[in-house]
Amino acid sequence: MIYMDNAATSFPKPPETEQAMMEAVRTLGNAGRGAHGTSLAAGRKICQVREMLAEMFHAEDSSRIAFTQNTTQALNTAILGTLGPGDHVITTMCDHNSVLRPLYLLEKQGVALTIIPADSKGRIDYDAMRKAVRSETKAIVVTHASNLTGNVTDLKTVAEIAEYNGLLLIVDAAQTAGILPIDVQKMGIDILCFPGHKGLLGPQGTGGIYVRPGVTVRPLMVGGSGVKSFDHEHPQNMPASLEAGTMNAHGIAGLGGGISFIRKTGMENIRRREDLLAWRFLEQIREINEVTVYGDFSDGSDRVATIALNIGDMDSGEVAERLAEEYDIAVRAGAHCAPLMHKALGTGERGAVRFSFSYFNTEDEINRASQAVREIAEDQ
Ligand code: ALA
Repeated sequence: MIYMDNAATSFPKPPETEQAMMEAVRTLGNAGRGAHGTSLAAGRKICQVREMLAEMFHAEDSSRIAFTQNTTQALNTAILGTLGPGDHVITTMCDHNSVLRPLYLLEKQGVALTIIPADSKGRIDYDAMRKAVRSETKAIVVTHASNLTGNVTDLKTVAEIAEYNGLLLIVDAAQTAGILPIDVQKMGIDILCFPGHKGLLGPQGTGGIYVRPGVTVRPLMVGGSGVKSFDHEHPQNMPASLEAGTMNAHGIAGLGGGISFIRKTGMENIRRREDLLAWRFLEQIREINEVTVYGDFSDGSDRVATIALNIGDMDSGEVAERLAEEYDIAVRAGAHCAPLMHKALGTGERGAVRFSFSYFNTEDEINRASQAVREIAEDQ
């Protein structure tokens, strides 16, 4: 199989991830729930991976990072835990349903929402964002990179707007964590939501949320914490405040394995290789008349290794099915949980075929994928 659906989840995982999980399953108990060796070992492992994440994202200290099941849980926590009736919030057409749906939910409860437009290349209108700020505006929630076009958001500009107006900046790093350098302090990020199972190369069921010191996020869930069990209230200090119930120590250990691989290989080397593969693919498919590519590929544009396209007037689902059945190539078609991005691109009706590459793809796989696109285009 040729796997090109890394924006959905990275595959394969490096051996470090697998080995760390196998060892965890054999050795770890329930963290923070006992004084025996297996419980302490789980606590130490979680602490170690928390430290690794704090270092990667330049958090003030590791207690500012709580583990979640995925980015969706982190974003729901960030959005529902900071906004309330009377607030105004800004997001963009590039954002994913894991941002939009919690915001639509809040809209029904009296939160005002402004969605900043994007153009037909998926570029955010930053002037409109600047002008959208009003006195009740509390936060900007924005993706670091579109899961459909691969366009990277100009976070510097967004952070300037947020800082100038005293707004919370909540960033969805679903497509960038582990791939692009993220320094939450230098970049002015108040809350960072990230997956463990994409660019960080960990297993599914892992993710996290960084919360800047001084920012309070109300938890989505309360319950067992392993401490102060007679209190009626869940602990209010990070990270325990956002980590109710048994932790996914096995998954978190695997995430540590993924991060170890990134450290060993170098994030810069990973990105350079992914870029090279994506541009090689783009150059090859651009030559095919029937192919339309979506996104901003202009000089100086910042991108992750994701390319969305359509062939002639074929339905994206049909193209993906042919790629899977005839060529054993795994991509994602349809709406990618990004309905507004599709509207901006003009692909609301038939969606698009998304190729998303990883460090583990080869040049040969790129050539075979572009050849498959060419054959399908000739055969439509
Ligand atoms: N959000 C993930 C994607 O873009 C699952 O495919």
